[in-house]
Amino acid sequence: METVLSGIRPTGNLHLGNYYGAVTSFVKLQDIYRCFFFIADWHSLTTHPTPDNIQRSARTILAEYMACGLDPEKSTIYVQSDVPEVAELYLYLNMNAYLGELGRVTSFKEKARKQPDNVNAGLLTYPTLMTADIIIHKANKVPVGKDQEQNMEMARKFARRFNQMYKVDFFPEPESFSLSKDGGIKIPGLDGSGKMGKSDDNCIFLCDEPSVIRKKVMKAVTDAGPQTPNSEKPEVIQNLFTLLEIVSTKDTHDYFNDKWNDCSLLYGELKKKLAEDIIAVTAPIRERIKEYSSNTELLEKVARRGAEKGRESASKTLREVREIIGFKVY
Ligand code: TRP
Repeated sequence: METVLSGIRPTGNLHLGNYYGAVTSFVKLQDIYRCFFFIADWHSLTTHPTPDNIQRSARTILAEYMACGLDPEKSTIYVQSDVPEVAELYLYLNMNAYLGELGRVTSFKEKARKQPDNVNAGLLTYPTLMTADIIIHKANKVPVGKDQEQNMEMARKFARRFNQMYKVDFFPEPESFSLSKDGGIKIPGLDGSGKMGKSDDNCIFLCDEPSVIRKKVMKAVTDAGPQTPNSEKPEVIQNLFTLLEIVSTKDTHDYFNDKWNDCSLLYGELKKKLAEDIIAVTAPIRERIKEYSSNTELLEKVARRGAEKGRESASKTLREVREIIGFKVY
């Protein structure tokens, strides 16, 4: 069976954009593939070297993903730093990764520009750590967004290079699995921007209380209203209709669409309905988030079991890697 793996940045709470863009796809993949999902807490040190409470952040993410349907019985869900084998593979990969190629990676250059006082080696070698994450389980498919395409190309290159340098056919070249093509939906932001997630106030978080959701939706950017019948919708308005398409029934969407077309649409009415429909979709998830977050015992158990399963798979690969390179195998 093919192996699917994806890494999760431990930054912030899950919002509707994450949910429809990636998490629902992960949940479906669990029934089809051997799946690994891990929280990339080591990667976060490249930008946040002195984290506030990294273990708590990881537990929050774990609770939220489980609330969305990620199932530790079906998948291996672990925290990256709980599987130290990854770090050893990262070391080997770094020996065969070159300054020139790492320095050309766009996300490295961007982050270097953003944090000029902390252009650290971890930032430069982000792609080799990501490669180690993937190939430690010999993953074949990696569901990622477009922004990860270059990192995925590096992962294929480093996997191929390992095979060539040591004259083996050991690591598969991991394929990206485009979330936008394979069912992921792009959720627009509430501030008129194309994408939810750009800033906190254009987001609806899955853990937001109904009163917060109502307030955020009512504040969503609009315009003066429809002026001519059957006109095309400007982006800010289309965004609200896109959200209706996702969380509401077709009847609701068509009702407001007709009102747009005959210029009788009142944005207040649309927003009220949209907020209630978002609340209906997110309420059961929010309830489960509360339940799981407060159950530290369960979260610890899941993390421990994930670490065991993750290490079992990782140590098998690492033993073979040590043998291939010529080190002692324990
Ligand atoms: N770089 C990914 C991101 O920023 C997170 C990540 C780390 C990852 N390691 C990975 C994703 C391995 C897929 C596979 O979202």
